[in-house]
Amino acid sequence: MDTKIKIKDRFFTPYISREKIAEAVGHIASQINKELAGKNPLFLCVLNGAFVFAADLFRELTIESEISFIRMKSYEGMRSTGEVKQIYGLQQDITDRTVVVVEDIVDTGFTIQQLMQQLKAHNPKEIKVATLLFKPDSLKCDVKPDYVALSIPPAFIVGYGLDYDEQGRNLKDIYVVAE
Ligand code: HPA
Ligand code: MG
Repeated sequence: MDTKIKIKDRFFTPYISREKIAEAVGHIASQINKELAGKNPLFLCVLNGAFVFAADLFRELTIESEISFIRMKSYEGMRSTGEVKQIYGLQQDITDRTVVVVEDIVDTGFTIQQLMQQLKAHNPKEIKVATLLFKPDSLKCDVKPDYVALSIPPAFIVGYGLDYDEQGRNLKDIYVVAE
């Protein structure tokens, strides 16, 4: 696993192997199995990027739990700043429920912060955040994911659900952009 790949105009090099990813996902699944047992948590997978991670995480769970899918879209109104994102696709009544947001990556934290604020308006019992990747040095908001599979430095990565201009989500390993 040391082959450089090209996606559109960029080269990427192998960064985190599928084996390391599986180990890290298994680790947070065990944490969740212990901490959220008996709460019937509702996992909310944030599309598109988290779909691969959510599928693997969910299959490592042994507790009573449910999963559903949402997406964050830029607000298309009078002020289309591209900054304000809104939840789409929330079907469940989350009142008094334990909700686990499943993200591919927490980078600046803006998306997860907006998502949490909007979910809170539905009066859940509690909201937890499970993320595959966390870039602590890129964080610009006061958010702290509860379950982090892998913490990484700020470089741009692709694969295992994460895209570069919508490409590369199918890669089984995670790659980092080559400088
Ligand atoms: N890769 C892909 N998508 C992203 C990243 C990244 O490093 N950070 C935020 N979204
Ligand atoms: Mg993207």
